[in-house]
Amino acid sequence: MGKDAESLYSSMTHIQQYITKYGELGNAHMVEYFTKDHWNNLLPQDLRTDLMKLSVDQLYTLPLELSCSNVKNFEKDPKATVSIGKTLLSFIQESKVCHLGAQDILTKINDLKSALNYTRTGKMDKQLANVKSKEYMCQKKAHEITEMSPVIDALCSHCNTSKVLDVGSGRGYLSTFLSLRYQLDVTAVDCTENNTISASLRAEKFFKYWNKRLSGKKNISQASVTEVTTIQTPSAALPSFKSAYVSCDTELVDLQPSDSDITHGCVIVGLHTCGDLASTITELFVKHSFIKGLCVVGCCYHHLTEKYDQTEHERVGFPLSSYLKNQHVHLGRNIRMVGLKAPEKVAVSDIAQMSNSSERSLFYRAILTVILQEEFEMDISRKDICIGKVFSKSKSFVDYVQRSVKKLNLNCDKLSDERIMDYLHKFQPRFKEIIAFAMMRQFLAPAIEALIVLDKLCYLLESAESVNISQCYVSEIFNPIKSPRRYAIVAFKS
Ligand SMILES: C[S@@+](CC[C@H](N)C(=O)[O-])C[C@H]1O[C@@H](n2cnc3c(N)ncnc32)[C@H](O)[C@@H]1O
Repeated sequence: MGKDAESLYSSMTHIQQYITKYGELGNAHMVEYFTKDHWNNLLPQDLRTDLMKLSVDQLYTLPLELSCSNVKNFEKDPKATVSIGKTLLSFIQESKVCHLGAQDILTKINDLKSALNYTRTGKMDKQLANVKSKEYMCQKKAHEITEMSPVIDALCSHCNTSKVLDVGSGRGYLSTFLSLRYQLDVTAVDCTENNTISASLRAEKFFKYWNKRLSGKKNISQASVTEVTTIQTPSAALPSFKSAYVSCDTELVDLQPSDSDITHGCVIVGLHTCGDLASTITELFVKHSFIKGLCVVGCCYHHLTEKYDQTEHERVGFPLSSYLKNQHVHLGRNIRMVGLKAPEKVAVSDIAQMSNSSERSLFYRAILTVILQEEFEMDISRKDICIGKVFSKSKSFVDYVQRSVKKLNLNCDKLSDERIMDYLHKFQPRFKEIIAFAMMRQFLAPAIEALIVLDKLCYLLESAESVNISQCYVSEIFNPIKSPRRYAIVAFKS
């Protein structure tokens, strides 16, 4: 195994304890920020004091500390005029150790390649693929597919198969690339029919584009020509695209095209498989002996279903492992939303360009709740108070409140502009607080993502003996700045 069970359990326990400790902070509804006084009720006094000593710019750079190697960097930063307080420092340290990168669990991509005995020369040349593909898709997608495809190719050659089942294939970028670049026999499945139709059309376009490049009909740079000549003209067919909703009970043979038989061996993959789909793919790998390899990257954790939720689900996306199930671990939707925010993204932003619009929108929304409660005597615990994307359309706070009130079918005549502005003036001094609070929540993100990812690794380890899984790994396959959901679970059977 990439990592032994004992060290995995100990990491998961540690992370889980951290999440339990700060669960209320992560699951707090920002719309109730003022009405429930989150600032005073959810953050200890010492932490609040330490936070308020920082300037707004310093607050925005706080998440930097999660991706830097040493918390003390902040204190040495020439821009920092106030040294970071003891309580805040210890919170940062506590959060940092829950980052997957700090857990000694990740397998480096080169070690993964070695484990897969990947020796085909030129196959790991991502740059080549990137040069060619970025004209055809956005840079983020180009980065993802050019990083993930060689891993899948390596997995296929290790598992001695060329058949790939790409589940949740979306617009088909990964599937098409695997066919053209690596001549793999790909079945691409997506539950949205429009995606399948457009993926198929796009694949044909890409095929022509690819051939044009290869035959040199288009004017490309000398460097590209040299690179392109190292690729063979694709002899493989394009992927077979299919519309179907895939669950653990899906008969996978029904998905395969007539000229392909995946039951003789295949690899199952999924790129940015939202919500429960990453878990479904992992379970399918465990369930079917003919699926020899797995490579899956999850996303949209807020769409996961949870076992210990109020709603009864027949199957759930989290947790999969008996280890977490036995402990009745429950995260909650809000904290899973928080888990989507990669601190690395913030770490690279230029502070001068940073916009506080997301905090301002939270701020407006939190004041609106107070107005609804005080002026309209509304029961603000109601779950159906939905105002949608009013913030981005509003020219001012008054406009924001008026639009929201109208949207809720309330009579806004009784609320004068002056009265609305009184609310803004009352809460304005607390805007910095909201920024600090939002940053504190962001510190929880790596731990939440780590637990969701490690749960799948743990499930694979638990199933290893019974289904002959010989190796399983978690590897950071994307650059977090280019693509924040970057952890791939890779496994293969003997
Ligand atoms: C975030 S998109 C990723 C698409 C593609 N893999 C990519 O990275 O470009 C997730 C896709 O999974 C599909 N999907 C979600 N759940 C599914 C399921 N249970 N079965 C099949 N497709 C599913 C959605 O329709 C969507 O196109």
